[in-house]
Amino acid sequence: MVLPRRRLKVLMTVMMVNLFIFILVSRHNSQDKNGRNKVHIPTKPFWTKLVPNQAYWNRQQQILDLQNNPILSANYRYINTTNIPDWLNDTDLTSDPCKPDLKVTTQVKDYNSLPGRFKDFLLYMRCRSYPLLVDQHHLCKDPPFLLLAVKSLAPHFDRRQAIRQSWGQAGILANRTVATVFLLGNATAVDYHPDLSEMLQFESTRHKDIVQWDYRDSFFNLTVKEVLFLDWIQARCPGAQYIFKGDDDVFVNTFRILDFLKGLSGPRARDLFVGDVITNAGPHRDKKVKYFIPESMYVGMYPPYAGGGGYLYSGDLAARLHNVSQQVALYPIDDVYTGMCLRKLGLAPEKHKGFRTFDIEEKYRSNPCAYKSLMLVHPRTPQEMIQIWAWLSNPKLNCQ
Ligand SMILES: *[C@@H]1O[C@H](CO)[C@@H](O)[C@H](O)[C@H]1NC(C)=O
Ligand SMILES: *[C@@H]1O[C@H](CO)[C@@H](O)[C@H](O)[C@H]1NC(C)=O
Ligand SMILES: *[C@@H]1O[C@H](CO)[C@@H](O)[C@H](O)[C@H]1NC(C)=O
Ligand SMILES: *[C@@H]1O[C@H](CO)[C@@H](O)[C@H](O)[C@H]1NC(C)=O
Ligand SMILES: *[C@@H]1O[C@H](CO)[C@@H](O)[C@H](O)[C@H]1NC(C)=O
Ligand SMILES: *[C@@H]1O[C@H](CO)[C@@H](O)[C@H](O)[C@H]1NC(C)=O
Repeated sequence: MVLPRRRLKVLMTVMMVNLFIFILVSRHNSQDKNGRNKVHIPTKPFWTKLVPNQAYWNRQQQILDLQNNPILSANYRYINTTNIPDWLNDTDLTSDPCKPDLKVTTQVKDYNSLPGRFKDFLLYMRCRSYPLLVDQHHLCKDPPFLLLAVKSLAPHFDRRQAIRQSWGQAGILANRTVATVFLLGNATAVDYHPDLSEMLQFESTRHKDIVQWDYRDSFFNLTVKEVLFLDWIQARCPGAQYIFKGDDDVFVNTFRILDFLKGLSGPRARDLFVGDVITNAGPHRDKKVKYFIPESMYVGMYPPYAGGGGYLYSGDLAARLHNVSQQVALYPIDDVYTGMCLRKLGLAPEKHKGFRTFDIEEKYRSNPCAYKSLMLVHPRTPQEMIQIWAWLSNPKLNCQ
């Protein structure tokens, strides 16, 4: 008897499912604590039926999870257009993800009453690639031990220069190679930015440390910066052993970071992700807060995440984050997004008390010794960065 291929495959799938249930039942049986060989027949279905989530992000994530589920995707061809759930079809997967996705205007319940930044985010939520305007091919010619990546905005010339003159000095520090790169989007006329492209051009030729992509550099697009940077690392700096990524208004004690990294090895070095970790947080529902997220967009808690002011991770983990990020729907808050990617990898960021994204007590701020054991302090002005760096670089600095 010759079965058609398709039939055969369906048959095989059914057999596999039966085998799986058999294993499940016999495992359950053998784990019976009382040793009585009693088989428990579940009275209710022991699987949960997949129902679409009401919140748009969660629903997009369900779709991504289905697409990336190895068991389901092997059988995906059997889900035909008449039995596909409607909500699975609410994203047209064949359309260009970088064209505004007009379906969101009807799929997000209160789309029309949302603030403009949400509309902008939702329309481009599926777009993850933008052209590079300025690149640095040779920045990692010699793979650095530590890559310092600083999220900056085009007009912040003084912050970048202060970082170059202080904690972001590229070269050799404490016998380790350090490279610095500034990550920029386009400061666009839509946001009333003056045209700074010629000045940026000069700066990038002079310092060779600017990477810029052509997308609108806004708060809700910081996640775009994150995924573009993960691409960039794999293309241009895959050999970096460790990566620090942070804002341009923080002071980083690079000496302390190098000292901390010196002592690492094994799995702890491979899976390193440290920062100022926030746990048990969820979306703000107060419209006036900068981090407000409406219920139509996201429901649930946030995974543990390290505050975006600055965190430190391994190059090895950067490669895994790069892969897994393709399976996590973009979220408008970049540090939460990175926490979501870590969770998908089965990892959690580690809290280190040397990361002070909420600053140190005022009475210690002008005490040089207060900075000696810290890794990051936020916020600091360009002048403060240069001053603190001078304190820490002074061989005569004597603490205790
Ligand atoms: C699609 O699936 C439905 C329900 O599972 C089934 O009745 C129908 O025959 C299938 N259509 C085709 C073309 O395979
Ligand atoms: C899925 O979407 C496509 C394009 O929008 C449409 O042509 C098709 O009829 C939809 N299928 C179902 C089952 O809703
Ligand atoms: C400097 O680093 C190199 C290689 O990274 C190492 O071989 C050398 O021993 C180090 N020198 C000192 C003084 O630590
Ligand atoms: C970037 O922004 C500038 C200033 O608003 C604008 O003129 C330019 O077209 C944008 N895109 C590129 C590719 O420079
Ligand atoms: C993100 O950048 C894209 C490309 O420039 C833009 O169309 C979109 O409106 C931006 N999103 C936000 C939230 O600013
Ligand atoms: C990332 O994905 C590619 C392609 O699937 C794979 O070859 C590579 O080993 C993956 N890298 C990591 C670090 O998981």
